[in-house]
Amino acid sequence: MNRAQWNQLADTFETEVCDIAREETRDQLGRFVRAVALSPKTSVLVDLGCGVGSFIRKFHHRFHDVTAVEFAPRIIARAKKNCTDVPRVRWLTMDIPRSAKAIGTVADLTVCMNVITSPSHAKRNSIWKTVAQVTKPRSHALIVVPSLESERMVRRVGRETPAALAGGLVQRDDAVQKHFERGELVSTLSRAGFAPMRIARIYYPWSKEGMRKPRSGGGKGPWDWVCLARRNSGGRARKP
Ligand SMILES: C[S@@+](CC[C@H](N)C(=O)[O-])C[C@H]1O[C@@H](n2cnc3c(N)ncnc32)[C@H](O)[C@@H]1O
Repeated sequence: MNRAQWNQLADTFETEVCDIAREETRDQLGRFVRAVALSPKTSVLVDLGCGVGSFIRKFHHRFHDVTAVEFAPRIIARAKKNCTDVPRVRWLTMDIPRSAKAIGTVADLTVCMNVITSPSHAKRNSIWKTVAQVTKPRSHALIVVPSLESERMVRRVGRETPAALAGGLVQRDDAVQKHFERGELVSTLSRAGFAPMRIARIYYPWSKEGMRKPRSGGGKGPWDWVCLARRNSGGRARKP
């Protein structure tokens, strides 16, 4: 989806978009954030594609400074409103790949949640590259991406004829979204210059799939992959 399409979702963000920091059902993000050594006196958070600011609202107290990047002006306006009482946030209304220069290599934790979903390999690459550029060596990135395994489960449960999911590309309403298998996420992060430390399922409600909880076969529900990864200490990242 492009900037204009995202902008149109600003008013209905909560109903139309999976805002994982608000909707996850098992505090997985909290567990992953607590696994990183952070100081509210010094640590820097960079949120790439911050949406309406739900992660910042929930976790800002663990950081001293926050930089939030979002290219849809009406969405970032909502994030600012939701975070009026959060101190020291720098809001950047721009495309993520352009933000690396403005931000610098400052993040103790970079989060990028459900943003690296473009069907274009080149566009995804430029965001992976930015994640690496803004994260300090040996510091961490917290990445959430749609799960291809979950998509297959949801289709099985919904008795849908399996459509081709070549390259992990899935049609969602009007948009095609890249989904990742667990192994692909691990190898992509490695190529981007990160060592994956922890990876887990982060569950969200069935209603986000437009479905009721099934009586059987649905496990704990649909999920995204969440990964905590450590930035390598030196050298250039290879192209993901
Ligand atoms: C699915 S939402 C996720 C928002 C937030 N990270 C969350 O988890 O709730 C994706 C967000 O990323 C923004 N976005 C997508 N591509 C972007 C890009 N290239 N540069 C800046 N923002 C982008 C969209 O406008 C949207 O707000």
